[in-house]
Amino acid sequence: MLSPIPVEEFDASCGDVNEVVALPPAAFTTDAFHEFEMDAVFGHEWLCIGRATDIPNKGDYFTVDALGEQLLVVRQADGTVQVHSNVCRHRAMRVATGSGNARRFKCEYHSWVYGLDGTLQSAPDLNDSPCFVKASVKLPEIRSELWENFVFVTFDNDIEPLAGRLANLSAYLSNWGISDLKSAEPQSFFPVKCNWKVFGDECYHCAHLHSKSWVPMHDASSERIDYNTESNEPEKGIIAYDLVGIEKDLAPTRTGKALQPLLPGLTDDQRRRIAYVTVAPNLLVIAMPDKVKYFMWLPTGTTTSVFAATWLYPESTLQREGFKELWQMELDDLAQVLEEDIYAWESVQAGLHSRNAPRGRYAPSEVVLVRFNEWLIEKYRTADALARLEVAESGEEGHGRTQESIEPVSV
Ligand code: FES
Ligand SMILES: [Fe+2]
Repeated sequence: MLSPIPVEEFDASCGDVNEVVALPPAAFTTDAFHEFEMDAVFGHEWLCIGRATDIPNKGDYFTVDALGEQLLVVRQADGTVQVHSNVCRHRAMRVATGSGNARRFKCEYHSWVYGLDGTLQSAPDLNDSPCFVKASVKLPEIRSELWENFVFVTFDNDIEPLAGRLANLSAYLSNWGISDLKSAEPQSFFPVKCNWKVFGDECYHCAHLHSKSWVPMHDASSERIDYNTESNEPEKGIIAYDLVGIEKDLAPTRTGKALQPLLPGLTDDQRRRIAYVTVAPNLLVIAMPDKVKYFMWLPTGTTTSVFAATWLYPESTLQREGFKELWQMELDDLAQVLEEDIYAWESVQAGLHSRNAPRGRYAPSEVVLVRFNEWLIEKYRTADALARLEVAESGEEGHGRTQESIEPVSV
């Protein structure tokens, strides 16, 4: 479909951070644009949906809802991970719920049974029917790939494999050994009342919104941020910065230091850094001296999303005596930071609905948001151009700008 906001309006959000302005508020508030964006961005990109380390054994599974799709992520007998549609092939009931271990999946409605690979094994009263070919029924497999044991899916079978896009990032983060790290607790999502783009990560706000929570634990002044890390590849949707400490092993804890054993293999320089890497559109990896955290978000509507924050450690750390107490201490100390973030995100969303909502200017340290905009806008332009082409070829009027046409916003 055509972009309901003329794509030229996004030009003002691309370029020199000292000159550009935020995305049009309508990009955060209108259903028509959300619908366009879900296809333009999420319909043709790799999305993170969780960790393969959460399902180490044959039959381990977790479920996740993403972009209106119900997904079932399962460890197979051969050790690989497959993602299937979690929608029963009979009458569309959800096949599995939550997470756990299973030898097979039985739909609760009429007891159709599926194997770990999604093949239909049994359908009561139909098993011997000459009119029903059981072997032809299978839960559709969703294209997936593992990167550092993160599970990614795409609903587009034609886009490039993910591995190439993230190869340099793997090299940059190799000393953190992310692939082997395990969740302290499996990811769990909580709802937030804002458009998914409001999460855009930057540390301009750290010294202000978090002046009483984060700042006493960790210096977040802008001169301690390195925006030119080798991990940066904005054209690939990899947008990164490092917080650089004056000493090694600093972390946002009540002692100001990392509380758990340091990750082996980090260089002295890496021990001075906390690397923040956004993998567009929905993953933020935060590599620290003793752990890696990841934040993940998925849109659930124009003005609603779900968000998860998960902590990854080596198995040896998770098994240490006293691990839980120290981890809980960190969670408690950072709870206020997260509360402040959610408060700000939801307030921003409310503000974006105002008839006086701004297309505000950026501070230099918000350059990461501009790079994110540019990646995003490229997706908008591509989808809009394709829709125009289709309209031209069919000789019909385009859809998309007819019903919920959006007024241009003055800059
Ligand atoms: S809907 Fe699943 S068995 Fe009927
Ligand atoms: Fe924050």
